[in-house]
Amino acid sequence: MSEPRSGEEGTIAVIGSCMVDLIAYADAVPQAGETRRAREFAMSCGGKGANQAVAARRLGSPVKMMARLGDDVFAEDTLANFRRFGIETSLVEKVPGVSSGVATIWVDADSQNRILIAPGANQKLTPAHVDAASDALSACSLLLLQLEVPLDTVYAAIDFGRTRKIPVLLNPAPARTDLDLDYARQCKFFVPNETELQILTDMPVEHEDDVVAAARTLLLRGFENLIVTLGEKGALWLHGDRVERFAAPHVHAVDTTGAGDAFIGCFANAYVAGRPIPDAIARAVRYASRSVTEKGTQEAYPSAREFETS
Ligand code: RIB
Repeated sequence: MSEPRSGEEGTIAVIGSCMVDLIAYADAVPQAGETRRAREFAMSCGGKGANQAVAARRLGSPVKMMARLGDDVFAEDTLANFRRFGIETSLVEKVPGVSSGVATIWVDADSQNRILIAPGANQKLTPAHVDAASDALSACSLLLLQLEVPLDTVYAAIDFGRTRKIPVLLNPAPARTDLDLDYARQCKFFVPNETELQILTDMPVEHEDDVVAAARTLLLRGFENLIVTLGEKGALWLHGDRVERFAAPHVHAVDTTGAGDAFIGCFANAYVAGRPIPDAIARAVRYASRSVTEKGTQEAYPSAREFETS
């Protein structure tokens, strides 16, 4: 493998969310006014930012997390979880009088999920915090961003990456129609899934040709690298005139929650380690596919050794 890219030995900074995931596994999910019985319940640390941080760390990258937690019992659990994985938490702070982020998740018999988040303290991560952390962030090799924190904070992080010449990866999840695409296009990597692409472009994404057409509208707006994740179908990479397809291995999925985060954490790890982009995407597709074969999010992310030997 080639040498890490410039920066603090390939350190990845995640400026993003932490949630506590309350997950119910059910044969069918309730309709309005209906109460149903779940088969199983699990509680674990989640949030798109934290999940991506853990995936990259599990694969060996040094990771710095920047986030806001509430002043409840969930905050200590989240901090302990980061420390267990060896994630740097000097930029993770508790906010008095606010609850930590919580995600209620239903996973149905087809392993598909529905997620309702209560962002809580994640809403308290502000552009001023990004400014205040500029010394700690400036030596990083890659910034990872998602949309579970305020958009102004995401924009401040994009500005920071641009002025410091640090590549930025933006995962526009969950999709927001008010995302300013003129900001988003300044990122080196833009990584939506097909649903997010559909919401952002207002174009159909039913077939692969549709996805390519929708993605091309973003390239025309100046996006550099567009990586569209397609679940069990793998991923597409669009860059200039180039379109590359990456098929996913066939696996038995039991829980698809957090697979997109597994993809991004793995891609980030491979990219900062100096792998070419197509290699990094192919690895990320395999890693995400592996993650859906086990329940939960972070619990389902294999370590580097588990991944290499699988
Ligand atoms: O992407 C999966 C994550 O989305 C879950 O861990 C949940 O916390 C929500 O943020």
